[in-house]
Amino acid sequence: MSVRWNAAVTAVAKCLPERRLTNSDLEKMVDTSDEWIRTRTGIRERRILDEGLGSSSMAIQAARQVLEQRGISPDEIDLIIVATVTPDMLFPATACLVQDGIGAKRAWGFDLSAACCGFLYAFVVGAKFVETGAHRKVLVIGADKMSSIVDYTDRATCVLFGDGAGAALLEPVEDPEMGLLDFLFQVDGSGGPSLYMPGGGSLNPPTHETVDKKMHVVHQDGRAVFKFAVPSMADVSAEILRRNDLTGDDLALFVPHQANYRIIEAAANRMGICEKKVVINIDRYGNTTCGTIPIGLTEAVEEGRLKKGDLLVMASAGAGFTWGSALLRWAF
Ligand code: ACO
Repeated sequence: MSVRWNAAVTAVAKCLPERRLTNSDLEKMVDTSDEWIRTRTGIRERRILDEGLGSSSMAIQAARQVLEQRGISPDEIDLIIVATVTPDMLFPATACLVQDGIGAKRAWGFDLSAACCGFLYAFVVGAKFVETGAHRKVLVIGADKMSSIVDYTDRATCVLFGDGAGAALLEPVEDPEMGLLDFLFQVDGSGGPSLYMPGGGSLNPPTHETVDKKMHVVHQDGRAVFKFAVPSMADVSAEILRRNDLTGDDLALFVPHQANYRIIEAAANRMGICEKKVVINIDRYGNTTCGTIPIGLTEAVEEGRLKKGDLLVMASAGAGFTWGSALLRWAF
């Protein structure tokens, strides 16, 4: 008889650079104010990784902590998936750099690009390798050095982003009520022009002209993204509850992507979940893109907000457009 495995999180960790960029620092760099940033986004400060280091450095630190927490050696890892929009370089994949950095000699791996939904998509892809029985230990990492693609003369974008990474270890559990229970993902590629980085890929390879035209930084129509993100994240968060016959009261925790406090609030309201069950750290870290959800999850565990058997929803919306949610039961 074949065993049906579920994939459960057995360890989580985060890595945030020491250096802080506060709203008052930004007031000295562009025409903005602490009051504007706080009231429009909820952000007070963000972390900035040192020059000379790439996203892989944060990914490696988070991965090492996961191994330590779980008490396993690197060569027990089967697969490494890194979600990022700021890989150290176009190739090799950041997952290869992590594999080497932590000494995961048996592991294979790849990067996954889905902007702010990167971690969520990578989490579910990783879970599928566990569910099929192909792998027993999958490391899923979200890591972004957004400061490397932000224009610090553009007040509309530079206030939003920060650097950070988080990692989760996925392992099989036999109990079908534990681990990843459901997911709901969507893409609308027509939203691409609202949030993108035009340069650096095969369409616009780097030239003096692309640099002069600032094509290697985030370009965003903030209002269009906001208009998309509010209903989208709220829809998938509410729908995953509805189709599993759950309400906000059944959840112990909601771990949303941290792009804007108002987007999070709208989703929480639609789910009917009270504020104290919502993970919010955008005030301290800003939007770390693929890092937000694993960082939030790690802090929730550190604060003792999750216990075995608790239900939680993770949700995100971002460039692409991409959006999605996942329902899981905490298993350790
Ligand atoms: N400081 C002061 N004024 C600013 C700043 C700033 N940092 N940035 C923009 N403004 C100005 C604008 O120029 C505009 O001025 P105008 O009316 O004279 O043209 C005014 O403030 C209002 O701009 P809006 O775009 O209407 O402000 P809004 O309330 O929409 O807030 C924001 C802007 C915060 C960018 C919001 O649209 C938003 O959060 N959008 C989502 C963007 C996002 O989170 N992207 C991240 C990746 S995608 C994701 O993770 C979902």
